[in-house]
Amino acid sequence: MAGFVDGITDRGSVSEKTIMHYKSSHTILLVGEGDFSFSACLAKAFASAANMVATSLDSKELLLRKYSRVAANLEALGLLGGTVLHEVDATEMSQHCSLSYKEFDRMVFNFPLHQHLVRWFLREARKLMSDKGEIHITHKISYPYYDWEIEELAKKEGLLLNEKAEFNLWDYPNYENKRGGGGNSDLTFPVGACVTFKFVKY
Ligand SMILES: C[S@@+](CC[C@H](N)C(=O)[O-])C[C@H]1O[C@@H](n2cnc3c(N)ncnc32)[C@H](O)[C@@H]1O
Repeated sequence: MAGFVDGITDRGSVSEKTIMHYKSSHTILLVGEGDFSFSACLAKAFASAANMVATSLDSKELLLRKYSRVAANLEALGLLGGTVLHEVDATEMSQHCSLSYKEFDRMVFNFPLHQHLVRWFLREARKLMSDKGEIHITHKISYPYYDWEIEELAKKEGLLLNEKAEFNLWDYPNYENKRGGGGNSDLTFPVGACVTFKFVKY
């Protein structure tokens, strides 16, 4: 069962909701979304997306052609008060007009496509980090992916590994990890052994 937790105040109202590493009190930036099912999963767990900015590299038009459930996920995010941005390139996102003046407590990229993208995402995300901020990359750790040496890449960008947390799909209800490219964009892929790397500033 997914790690949902509600914080209850002494007056009995719900103060904070948590799913795995994410809290409704965090400002959260999601990068490189596929069908936005990960963002929608968090938003549903928080019963709000007011604390979230969810982004894709693809335009909305392209997403609607690629993913069967993206319209429903975008609608859910909108109804829950989330901000959705398209055509956000992780390699230059700190200059994006809707992001450059913000700070985030959590910045999340699930299954980035290649090492170069990881390095640039880390570099750019570091510029948008709040004081208590963390950058999260979820990635396979089986061969050949461990060769990416994500921890080393992060060190070069002034980031320190805080934790490597085991990643399980079932902790995130309705999240579907997408291939995201080619004619099979809407298909998922087996994640196998996988972790969420959490980085903080040196
Ligand atoms: C393997 S898919 C994973 C999609 C999604 N994160 C998920 O877990 O379902 C890789 C994603 O990286 C995105 N991507 C590739 N280059 C990017 C870039 N420069 N900036 C932001 N996203 C990028 C693609 O659009 C695609 O959605």
